[in-house]
Amino acid sequence: MRKPIIAGNWKMFKTVKEALAFAEEVKGKAEVDGVESVICAPFTNLPALVEAFKGTTIKVGAQNLHWADNGAYTGEISGEMLKELGVDYVIIGHSERREYFAETDETVNKKIKAAFKYGVTPIVCVGEKLEEREAGRTKDVCKTQTEAAFAGLDKELAAQTVIAYEPIWAIGTGKSSTSEDANEVIAYIRELIKGLYGTETAEAIRIQYGGSVKPANVKEYMGMSDIDGALVGGASLEPASYIQLVEGAR
Ligand code: 13P
Repeated sequence: MRKPIIAGNWKMFKTVKEALAFAEEVKGKAEVDGVESVICAPFTNLPALVEAFKGTTIKVGAQNLHWADNGAYTGEISGEMLKELGVDYVIIGHSERREYFAETDETVNKKIKAAFKYGVTPIVCVGEKLEEREAGRTKDVCKTQTEAAFAGLDKELAAQTVIAYEPIWAIGTGKSSTSEDANEVIAYIRELIKGLYGTETAEAIRIQYGGSVKPANVKEYMGMSDIDGALVGGASLEPASYIQLVEGAR
């Protein structure tokens, strides 16, 4: 049985003060048996959130890391730095990072390995642009991105990875993928993992849907055979909405 995972991706929102106010509101509420709850926050919020969520089941994630152990990489953060803070997850290869910060399939692969090296679990994003969907290339794009992401990663680590299928045209647009379409692509990604690692790994790996998920539609996605959770931007920013998302994944 795969444990559903709801992860909020706060993107570049919330000061420390705002993050702590959120934490106070969701403690004890965005905690539901059988559902993993993760807040992926800006770097500056991470120490305060780890402290605030101590003694709760809510986990904290980052939104990026560098692949090197350390070095002359101005402005970057390493896996070791995240681990030291007590961060459990890190989003890798989000489409916004691919689009605005030159993230490539190759850097995604290196970052996944760096995350695991320091015991931080990657949430790896894949997904097609609108023009790729319209050209019937959704599965091709997901195949290229998934296979590149997992290149050289051993089976045991592959099974622990979380994949987030986020069609780019559905991010922040209010135009969510239908649950059937999302499930079809996610089932296809699971088949790809089966091809790379075999049935056991494919059955174990968790694959989320992301793109305009809200309290009103989360249950529909969670009811699908292959969707194991959601990576949520906008609707994860308000405590009441985040609590409903976690409850909806039960
Ligand atoms: P929205 O939920 O705001 O569409 O964002 C999705 C996303 O990019 C999560 O990583």
